[in-house]
Amino acid sequence: MKKTGSLVLLLLVLQHSFGQFLQENGIDPYHYTSQKKLIANKGAVASAHPLASMVGTAILKKGGNAFDAAIATQLALAVVYPTAGNLGGGGFLVGQLKSGKQVAIDYREKAPAAAHRDLYIDENGKANTDKSQLGHLAAGVPGTVAGLFATHQFATFSFADLITPAIELAERGFCISAGEARGLNAIQTDLKKYNTHTPAFVKSEGWKEGDTLRQPQLAATLKRIKEKGKAGFYEGETAQLIVEEMKRGNGIISLEDLKKYEAAFRTPHRFSYKEYVIVSMPMPSSGGLLLNQMMKMVENRNLGKMGFQTAESVQLMTEVMRRAYADRAAYMGDADYYPVPVREITEAAYLKKRMEDYDPTKASDSKIVKPGVPLKKESEETTHLSVMDSEGNAVAVTTTLNNSYGSRTVIGGAGFFINDEMDDFSVQPGVPNMYGAIGGEANSIQPGKRMLSSMTPTLVLKNGKPYIVVGTPGGTTIPNQVFQTLMNLLEFGLSAEDAVNKPKFHHQWLPDELVTEKGFPEAVKMSLQNMGYRFAKERSGIGRTELIRVLPDGKLEVIADGRGDDSAAGF
Ligand code: GLY
Repeated sequence: MKKTGSLVLLLLVLQHSFGQFLQENGIDPYHYTSQKKLIANKGAVASAHPLASMVGTAILKKGGNAFDAAIATQLALAVVYPTAGNLGGGGFLVGQLKSGKQVAIDYREKAPAAAHRDLYIDENGKANTDKSQLGHLAAGVPGTVAGLFATHQFATFSFADLITPAIELAERGFCISAGEARGLNAIQTDLKKYNTHTPAFVKSEGWKEGDTLRQPQLAATLKRIKEKGKAGFYEGETAQLIVEEMKRGNGIISLEDLKKYEAAFRTPHRFSYKEYVIVSMPMPSSGGLLLNQMMKMVENRNLGKMGFQTAESVQLMTEVMRRAYADRAAYMGDADYYPVPVREITEAAYLKKRMEDYDPTKASDSKIVKPGVPLKKESEETTHLSVMDSEGNAVAVTTTLNNSYGSRTVIGGAGFFINDEMDDFSVQPGVPNMYGAIGGEANSIQPGKRMLSSMTPTLVLKNGKPYIVVGTPGGTTIPNQVFQTLMNLLEFGLSAEDAVNKPKFHHQWLPDELVTEKGFPEAVKMSLQNMGYRFAKERSGIGRTELIRVLPDGKLEVIADGRGDDSAAGF
């Protein structure tokens, strides 16, 4: 009896002990809450999940810098935020080092070598976007792990130390939130349809808040990366598992595609706005360029005086969104493959001309810029994290699987979702992707090419020093959200909390309609309707912004978006 009792006790201890790193740093994966706002003295992380923000902050506390914390936070998100945190996706990092040097790391997925421009065109010449959005064929060659290793050259801890908390979380498990339970329950049918095995995310009786999610296969993958570095993912057993999974489901990623994948160092997209310098992501993300066009189109138009969410200010912002997004469809794609006219479409004279037909009394017509086709469906799962440390390093990272839980295919034996990023290519000119965005030659599919993104990890510098670190998920709404958050702070003088959480709006040229978030003022909508604006169905939430702003006394104001489980941590 006594023996049985001790055995039960031992089993209980084993079940609930949660790894040395987590224990030593007071991180309890079975009991945690979101913190939406804090003031930090030395360093801070804001991310989509409390456990990931706590892991990043623990690394900062132990003496790591913002790059160390960004790596550890992303790896933790790959475990605790399967919606969008990932090993099987890609992302972008924009950072400023304490030396003042700026970096932009591109770890966007690439089209496999066997891909071609008509990959998703059926025998009747029609685009089959189900295949670019769900299942094995939707996957681009994942970039995240290469991106983390590229980032590591600016870090101070060993990669092994930075990946350990993620291994512990995957191995021991963590309690899922109500939101995660809802998300996983919503994809149970897809999990059966698009998998050749039964992943850890399947639960026949349904998930509920507080259930423990353990991911032993993912833990084993993370351990291979810990032991073998980048090759622990892109070669050997993990690569083999990816390719075997592809073969079982008609996917086309090969061993060669994986072995050849490299992250790229890009020159950050920079521009001035009044006394600030904005540093954001260049191609293959449209984010920095769109932000540049939109901010420059309003810079000399007294936006601040018009007031936050008045009909006047929303109309002006909508019209600059319309014009910038029309340029996105026509000109933007992977600049390694297509000559994107970045300089030409950001010149002051060009942007002035672009606004010549702007009429503050009525809606413009997207047809006079270019014709298009209506929105098909929307899904916007990506994730952003913002990090700052006490040395002056600042890092903004946005990373994605594209749709929530990517292609819904989990790599058998390796335990992670693979992306459905191929849908971010223009699968056929004029055919909208899942965000309703259309494109043409600039963003056509070619082997090895990166699909156009909207991710906008951004720093705002004041006197050359990081002042704001910001970004959000949200598909094509991302550049517009970052634009609004920055205007809310720099022009309308909102508090950081309101700048993040007040309802957002979105116009992307085509479809020619304004999308508003729940709580957007009805009176403003009516005024705009009278000017000729059409409104799409209201959305319950647009994006999840994570923001850090440096206060005049040097402390860090950290805001995690109120729309999800997002959480701020710092010290
Ligand atoms: N998959 C969303 C984006 O890259 O913008």
